[in-house]
Amino acid sequence: MGFIGLCGIFIVMLCLLILSFSWWIFPIQKHKKLKRNGFGGPTPSFPLGNIKEMGKKNISIQSLVASTNLTHDIHSNVFPYFSTWQKSHGKVFVYWLGTEPFLYIAEAEFLKKMSTEVMAKRWGKPSVFRNDRDPMFGSGLVMVEGNDWVRHRRIVAPAFNPLNLKVMANMMVESTNEMIDRWSSQINFGNHEIDVEREIITIAGEIIAKTSFGVEDENAREVFHKLRALQMTLFNTNRYVGVPFGKYFNVKKNLEAKKLGKEIDKLLMSIVEARKNSPKKNSQKDLLGLLLQENNEVGKSIKTFTTREIVDECKTFFFGGHETTALAITWTLLLLATHEDWQNQLREEIKEVVGNNELDITMLAGLKKMKLVMNEVLRLYPPAPNVQRQAREDIQVDNLKVPNGTNMWIDVVAMHHDPELWGKDVNEFKPERFIDDVNGGCNHKMGYLPFGFGGRMCVGRNLTFMEYKIVLTLLLSKFSFKVSPSYIHSPSIMLSLRPIHGLPLLVQPLN
Ligand code: HEM
Ligand SMILES: *[C@@H]1O[C@H](CO)[C@@H](O)[C@H](O)[C@H]1NC(C)=O
Ligand SMILES: *[C@@H]1O[C@H](CO)[C@@H](O)[C@H](O)[C@H]1NC(C)=O
Ligand SMILES: *[C@@H]1O[C@H](CO)[C@@H](O)[C@H](O)[C@H]1NC(C)=O
Ligand SMILES: *[C@@H]1O[C@H](CO)[C@@H](O)[C@H](O)[C@H]1NC(C)=O
Repeated sequence: MGFIGLCGIFIVMLCLLILSFSWWIFPIQKHKKLKRNGFGGPTPSFPLGNIKEMGKKNISIQSLVASTNLTHDIHSNVFPYFSTWQKSHGKVFVYWLGTEPFLYIAEAEFLKKMSTEVMAKRWGKPSVFRNDRDPMFGSGLVMVEGNDWVRHRRIVAPAFNPLNLKVMANMMVESTNEMIDRWSSQINFGNHEIDVEREIITIAGEIIAKTSFGVEDENAREVFHKLRALQMTLFNTNRYVGVPFGKYFNVKKNLEAKKLGKEIDKLLMSIVEARKNSPKKNSQKDLLGLLLQENNEVGKSIKTFTTREIVDECKTFFFGGHETTALAITWTLLLLATHEDWQNQLREEIKEVVGNNELDITMLAGLKKMKLVMNEVLRLYPPAPNVQRQAREDIQVDNLKVPNGTNMWIDVVAMHHDPELWGKDVNEFKPERFIDDVNGGCNHKMGYLPFGFGGRMCVGRNLTFMEYKIVLTLLLSKFSFKVSPSYIHSPSIMLSLRPIHGLPLLVQPLN
């Protein structure tokens, strides 16, 4: 009896010891080491780190009612905590998500020095995010590292070459035209106000599902609905990333996400297997078809994808590709609604380039002004507001040493709104700054990063450019747009940078 009691006490003590090491002693040691290495930052309290301060919202913008004079100076509203910490700790400092240190970077030169030290293959992605977002990305291209990343990238990248994308254009036109019909009939009933954000995200999801794995069969449609449900589940949850046992704070949601994730995997598995076994497997020119084809071709030189990996890539396309593209289009419609001159200029350009002809993909390259507008929108409202990395080795930057294992959080919103990089007119909408300069007059080539940087830059860029131009061309040829008085300007981060109350626009058919 006494012996068992003693054993019990001993085990409890041991647990407490382990906990205090992992929650308290180790983080503090790491904190001290980073300080010794020259990195400052806000003082964390363990085991939550700086999460509490980061939960506070900056209310001031919530009441910023729409006028034609929206402020684009959004950093202090999107990331109030980073904006505050920048004032006392500069553009590079350390903060803590739970017991995980994150190196905050909003300085282009620091980033350049680091990225010349570390090539794409040697970068990691933060393990804490990899775990948190496993149901979304699995071991798809966004998350893999090292030689696995090289292999994935070599198989995936060719699927996005211009020849292959051509086939997908029709699917985009089709989905957009269906949406236009829906809007037209709603307007005929006298209701001109449309929540453009919700509408565009819906068709972008449809488009990415069609271009990724086709949706004509029943299974694929079910996958699409479940992917959307998974997204909702994950987004509507406060996520305690980096906090020990954080996933137990949302047991129900996490179980739900896990269950959905499993169901999606099963459905996608069966789709992939069916395609593999079908004699006409190479005839379907969606991304899945292209992956299978590419997989056969590289099979002679490098290790091919397993079914599991193909499933993860399909999910990665969905989660990496639809909301980002939709938000690029959504923010563009807001800016065109508030800048009628640009709206008219784009409509003129469409008339010149497309005229009364059927929209053809070869025409898209002629939409030069639209490209300027896109670049400027991606600068002011980058749908992916940050880029993440994890050091897999010690990295020396001048006299600072970033230790192996350090997570990095690169603040794209901050750099895109930094007057030191862009000049005094940084917060004005001026697409013309991109004429003759792919960097938009930014005085540092690492200051404009809507698609990330280096070898790990977004693989889906070309698909986005095409979708952006097709959807906008069709919309601007049919409708004119004004901001609804009910719009509230409040760009917020929900993984991506979204208008948190949607984007109600007043939509008028053109005659
Ligand atoms: C406006 C639209 C988009 C934006 C703003 C965007 C942004 C980004 C960013 C910031 C990264 C991280 C880059 C880095 O870590 O340096 C990324 C990576 C990636 N994106 Fe996109 N993306 C968009 C559209 C798409 C689309 C349409 C797809 C696919 C259908 C896609 C698939 C991916 C993949 C697979 C990666 C990982 C690439 C790698 O690590 O090698 N993205 N994207
Ligand atoms: C809009 O902004 C401009 C420039 O900041 C300013 O001069 C003008 O007074 C503003 N108009 C309104 C209605 O707020
Ligand atoms: C909140 O936003 C306002 C401007 O919109 C800004 O002046 C203020 O500094 C922000 N607060 C914090 C804590 O960053
Ligand atoms: C995008 O298309 C261009 C040609 O238009 C091509 O050179 C480039 O390799 C493509 N990029 C990707 C990531 O597929
Ligand atoms: C970095 O740390 C990881 C895990 O602690 C270790 O496996 C790896 O070998 C380290 N890398 C280098 C280059 O020391």
